[in-house]
Amino acid sequence: MTITKIHAPIATAQRVNRFTYAIRNIVAEAVKVEAAGTRVRYLNIGDPVAFGFKTPDHLIAAVERAMRDGHNHYGPSAGIPAARMAVAAEYTRNGFPISAERVFITAGTSEGIELTLGAVVDAGGEVLVPMPTYPLYTAVLAKLDAHAKYYRLDASHGWMPDLEHLESLVTPSTRALVVIDPNNPTGAVYSTETRRALLNFADRHGLLVLTDEVYGDLGFEGPVEPYGKLDPDAAIISFSSLSKAFLAPGWRTGWMACGGSPRLDGVVAAVRKLADGRLCSTVPMQYAIAGALEGDRSHQPVFRRALKARADLTIARLCAMPGVSCVAPTAAFYAMPRIALPPGRTDEDYVKALLHATGVLCVYGSGFGLPAEEGFLRIVFLAPLDELTEIYDLMASFTADYLR
Ligand SMILES: Cc1ncc(COP(=O)(O)O)c(C=O)c1O
Repeated sequence: MTITKIHAPIATAQRVNRFTYAIRNIVAEAVKVEAAGTRVRYLNIGDPVAFGFKTPDHLIAAVERAMRDGHNHYGPSAGIPAARMAVAAEYTRNGFPISAERVFITAGTSEGIELTLGAVVDAGGEVLVPMPTYPLYTAVLAKLDAHAKYYRLDASHGWMPDLEHLESLVTPSTRALVVIDPNNPTGAVYSTETRRALLNFADRHGLLVLTDEVYGDLGFEGPVEPYGKLDPDAAIISFSSLSKAFLAPGWRTGWMACGGSPRLDGVVAAVRKLADGRLCSTVPMQYAIAGALEGDRSHQPVFRRALKARADLTIARLCAMPGVSCVAPTAAFYAMPRIALPPGRTDEDYVKALLHATGVLCVYGSGFGLPAEEGFLRIVFLAPLDELTEIYDLMASFTADYLR
């Protein structure tokens, strides 16, 4: 018997074509530059540990102890009880009463977001996502064959959401509103008035609100209150993790906290079902959560001061460059400058030219959903001050040439 073999390549799913993640996609270009002998300064990924900030010792000790105590087994899908209780107690202390039953421990904020969108959005469904956005949201929606509808954040108003624009985007297919506050990529913290307006908007339209509060402890003036404090009965699911304010992004350990509104009961049950399917998140790392939220946090004020100093330097240097403007961030470690590009050039053209000429790697604004001709880019300013000074020297002379 002769066997015919088919030699055609195995086809991939269409959805992959819609899936982009500029923050990491741009690295392929940087690797080429590095191979050609130029030192690359990676200002693309918001990882404080990569820039020398240290994971607190007591968290490492808790994970080590858990491993030595034999907690290397699978855990409950929703997370170990001690971690869920610590998360619930933290939100409750901060004014948003949460029951441990409605907390899920996840592989970072990222997995919580994916579980939630998977639980509420069908193919063809729409989700209101900020523009610029952290690109995970659009990437997950692409995987679900659903649509991100972008609502504008307005650079001329300190990157606050444009509420009129938001209102104009609602259709019968709209399922949820994503709010990232404190924000990546802009570094903005929204005013209480804006926060209330966002919750009222969601309430009027019967939408779930996903509040991404992963930078909540990194306001330069101190921790930012959770959205749920403003309205504990709102249909809010809040996301956070050990990645940023607890300096352990590689542990892939985070949580989602579902508000007590009965309107969320079905969503909680759906998330529980999906969470069962992925067994559990990394178990030993969950043993650090109670210590993180209830133990020594003395690293946080030190970290916030370091971030503020870097933000101040960043803004002073960027705003002194002719043709560059930037809204001052008030939290996290991102700034979103705008370059007054010559006609016909895109943000990606500028970012790639900067990379090739100087080795400085940023992410173009269109990677966060902004129109490419607007000339925005995101800088991660976690590097030490002396290194940032060198980076901004390189950027200043490159930009002067580029815009000449
Ligand atoms: C706004 C925002 N949400 C979620 C994440 C993902 O974080 P995690 O490491 O908790 O998955 C990030 C990471 O940069 C982020 O900036």
